[in-house]
Amino acid sequence: MYSRYSRRRALTLGAGVLSGIGTVIGAKAGVKAAYRHYQAQILDNPDRTFETAGETPLKQRAQAKGLIYGAAARHQDLMTDRTLATHYRTECALLAPEWELKWSAGNARLRTAPNQFDFTMADEMINFAQTHAMQVRGNTLVWHLCLPEWFTEQVNHQNAEQWLVQHIQTVVGRYAGQVQSWDVVNEAIEPADGQAHGLRRTPWQELLDADYIDLAFRIAAAADPKAVLTYNDYGLEYDTPENQTKRQAVLQLLERLKAQGTPIHALGIQSHLVGNELRFNPQKLRQFLSDVASLGLKIFITELDVIDRELPQSVEVRDRIIASIYEDFLSVILDEPAVKMLVTWGLSDRYSWLTEFHPRADGSAVRPLPLDGNLQRKSAWRAIARAIDAAPVRSSQSACFRSSNHSFALEQPHLRAIKGLGLNH
Ligand code: XIL
Repeated sequence: MYSRYSRRRALTLGAGVLSGIGTVIGAKAGVKAAYRHYQAQILDNPDRTFETAGETPLKQRAQAKGLIYGAAARHQDLMTDRTLATHYRTECALLAPEWELKWSAGNARLRTAPNQFDFTMADEMINFAQTHAMQVRGNTLVWHLCLPEWFTEQVNHQNAEQWLVQHIQTVVGRYAGQVQSWDVVNEAIEPADGQAHGLRRTPWQELLDADYIDLAFRIAAAADPKAVLTYNDYGLEYDTPENQTKRQAVLQLLERLKAQGTPIHALGIQSHLVGNELRFNPQKLRQFLSDVASLGLKIFITELDVIDRELPQSVEVRDRIIASIYEDFLSVILDEPAVKMLVTWGLSDRYSWLTEFHPRADGSAVRPLPLDGNLQRKSAWRAIARAIDAAPVRSSQSACFRSSNHSFALEQPHLRAIKGLGLNH
């Protein structure tokens, strides 16, 4: 019924990040206009430097402001590249396993087979984080992508709720007390799909209707009373009609969830920024952040990077543009006190998902992250450091944890639902 989700997985994901961000991508005139803009504002502007006060790592700079800085990493990179691992230890107070806590991504197959979990890689990632006093973000429990091949054969209208309950209970339960925050539901809004409330058409939504979102949060809350439970999405950052509609739909979703007592604690704004997208409107973004904050939610920047696919080839020029995008975006974001965390989607250009998902036409390596391919700090790192240094101090670091220990007991039908699956793990 929904086999298209697995077949078109890579395609949808690649396009997904950009859809709604605008039509500038690929349009030659737009790319040129963007370049002219950057030339005037950044490249020919002698005042636009990216100097930092000292070389203190990002995690200490963030900590001084009551913020957490962290980065995503894949097991296959972190466990084999010792120098890379050293940089994670130096820069990051938090680790976001990029593949290992998804149902199935890359060589990390948490859901190896219908009746089996393989926690080996996830355990090693979490162990690495704990050994080096880093917190952990869990990404992601309920998403329409990165589902195993067998998902469509196994999960149907009759048993979908059992599957959802059992997956969340098992994974969240196993790491209870060890994961700072979970992306419980990921990318559930897509107004272009034309459904009620702007909900995306996903396997979960088709099988369980809109209730799957509330249910997922309740199961997660019961399985780990400490984790900060997050709704995570992209396409919220720019002043485009698509992003505007999506911001509205996300805000309405958050309002509905809060009104019905769903245990949700934070919004994750992915922030895959687009190098040549000029429609950035600080005022509208500030308004959105403050609307979210007024619901009593924390805000996390969860997957920050800059897509440089359409930027000029020159490394010097590209790096300056990328750095300015980081600094301009973060100075707005970090001004909002509800923002408590900043996570880049990788640490070094040596390993970025954009190499695969948004490669450059000229074949040159992408440069979306704080460290370059030789693991050296580049101007993107300095821009992030500057924005953090300029941010107001948050009241306390403990704000990153759930304030109440409210426990959400699962109702009997859900408990009954998971019996009978007969899973080994
Ligand atoms: C991506 C990973 O970076 C890729 O390596 C993987 O193949 C697919 O998922 N939004 C999210 C992240 O919430 O989980 C995605 O991560 C990127 C888009």
